Amino acid sequence: MPSRHSTLLADAARRLAEAGVESPRVDAELLLAHVTGRTRAGLITLDELDAGAAARFAALLDQRADRVPLQHLTGRAAFRHLELAVGPGVFVPRPETEQLVEWALASLAGVPEPVVVDLGTGSGAIALSIAHEHPGARVTAVERDPDAIEWTRLNAASRAAAGDRPVEVLAGDMTDPLLLRALDGGVDLVVSNPPYVPDGALVPREVADHDPPMALWGGPDGLDVVRGLLGTAARLLRPGGGLGIEHADLQGTALPALVRAHGGWDDVADHPDLAGRPRFTTARRARGGAGGD
Ligand SMILES: C[S@@+](CC[C@H](N)C(=O)[O-])C[C@H]1O[C@@H](n2cnc3c(N)ncnc32)[C@H](O)[C@@H]1O
Repeated sequence: MPSRHSTLLADAARRLAEAGVESPRVDAELLLAHVTGRTRAGLITLDELDAGAAARFAALLDQRADRVPLQHLTGRAAFRHLELAVGPGVFVPRPETEQLVEWALASLAGVPEPVVVDLGTGSGAIALSIAHEHPGARVTAVERDPDAIEWTRLNAASRAAAGDRPVEVLAGDMTDPLLLRALDGGVDLVVSNPPYVPDGALVPREVADHDPPMALWGGPDGLDVVRGLLGTAARLLRPGGGLGIEHADLQGTALPALVRAHGGWDDVADHPDLAGRPRFTTARRARGGAGGD
């Protein structure tokens, strides 16, 4: 006979599936784990749910069925080795961006104190992960959205308190020709997961209703912000410095072409995510220094 909580979870998962939630069982388990203060694995030994916990679970289930993102309900998003605070006003970091960080860290191997800039940092997922995993890195995180940057600051303060080298958080526009002028020509790595969704594209309700518009929309082909970011990256990077930009599945040809057309870049390449979909473009600032500023 099924235990009481397995029936509860089966009912919850069915409800979420009917509401169109993509991973209903996992989400139901994570919400129950959140309510009971357990890990997902720890639910196996859960017997009774007191009335307060049952009511909280039911309320969270209602919201998830209404397609509020799971991470807004738990207030946390896992990203690589970190748990970041997230909620209304900031983009929820996605697992596919972890590959871009993997590439970034590999490109910095052997550089003891690299200067790194993360453009459009949101929760700080990329910047704070690099600071955590490369203790010598001097990272600056740039964000334009005044609501999102509150979350960046919160997460940056909490990582610094945990012992990571502090990340500098800067309010600014990644397309601004005056941004971070003091670093011109001295940056080892520019990394970005910019807004890249083409205007009018269909996105899930969680995204359309809860991710901030500034985090998503990138103009008719999705690459408007990227065009501005390329000029900033070209100006900031030292010769041979690295650039990594995340993009949409359908931009695996367009973004490398844009970088090549900009000029002044070597080793332009595109990379898939773990699901095999085109996910980010990388390049090196040309050592000859010609073109593309
Ligand atoms: C897709 S989200 C990525 C957030 C985070 N880097 C991540 O990977 O989870 C894009 C971020 O860029 C910010 N942004 C959009 N346009 C910007 C601009 N012109 N300058 C700086 N930040 C910008 C958005 O507010 C948002 O936080």
